[in-house]
Amino acid sequence: MPRPAEIELVNVTRRFGNTVATRDLSFAVAPGEIVALVGRTGAGKSTAMNLIMGTIGPDTGTVRVAGYDPHRDFAKLRGKLAVSFQTDRLLPWRTAAENIALGLQILRADKNLIHARVREWLARVKMVGAEDKYAHELSGGMRQRVSLARALAVDPQILLLDESFSQLDHVTSKSLRADVSELIRTLGKTCLFITHRIDDALEMADRILVLAAPARVILEVKPSEADRRDGARLQAMHDAIAAALGDEQPTTH
Ligand SMILES: Nc1ncnc2c1ncn2[C@@H]1O[C@H](COP(=O)(O)OP(=O)(O)OP(=O)(O)O)[C@@H](O)[C@H]1O
Ligand SMILES: [Mg+2]
Repeated sequence: MPRPAEIELVNVTRRFGNTVATRDLSFAVAPGEIVALVGRTGAGKSTAMNLIMGTIGPDTGTVRVAGYDPHRDFAKLRGKLAVSFQTDRLLPWRTAAENIALGLQILRADKNLIHARVREWLARVKMVGAEDKYAHELSGGMRQRVSLARALAVDPQILLLDESFSQLDHVTSKSLRADVSELIRTLGKTCLFITHRIDDALEMADRILVLAAPARVILEVKPSEADRRDGARLQAMHDAIAAALGDEQPTTH
């Protein structure tokens, strides 16, 4: 029997005043799947993420995350769901290590466990040696590594990433993406990530959902490992996504 979806949106409509941010948005993410949301600015990607995090609720439709309504059962998802954002939101008065510890401290984890986890994650995101630097002393790439480590250190079932690699130069971003996708696959996490870069999506995701404003899925692409090794197939997928993004009509309300 197929396992139930870890994340599921069914006919979700959400307005902000006169703006329709999502209209009848439906998609699901299976346990262990890595799914990318791609769309132009204002397509409603972050709104979809906020609905999944439960920081906002839908006007109509349903959102389920790990079997819960994330808006109503916000507390039930503590520790199950972790998020890393475009702007890393590190605490400037904390060191890299102390920032990684933050989520575990909020969950009131045991001190020894926190210490061990922080060591483990400093190594995984290749930050050993920089653990005592304050957030403002870190480069953009280091800050994003710390932010990702902080999200993953709580051992969440589900990871949400909103443009977590976009501040970085191409080389740094590529190596961090490779590290993160390997970690996510090895640890069997479910991951939904937002990116405006088609190449990033093709490289990391099992499935790519192209959204158009007001957020709804206009194209779904499933790059296999074989596709990823075949330049021509990858290019064809890239072109299909670019065409879908280009054909997007301006929003009318
Ligand atoms: N809190 C809010 N109040 C008012 N309008 C909002 C709010 N959040 C989002 N919107 C509107 O909803 C629409 C979708 O915004 P959203 O932030 O989800 O887009 P996005 O796809 O994440 O864009 P970007 O790629 O620029 O991050 C936009 O028209 C935006 O102005
Ligand atoms: Mg956004």
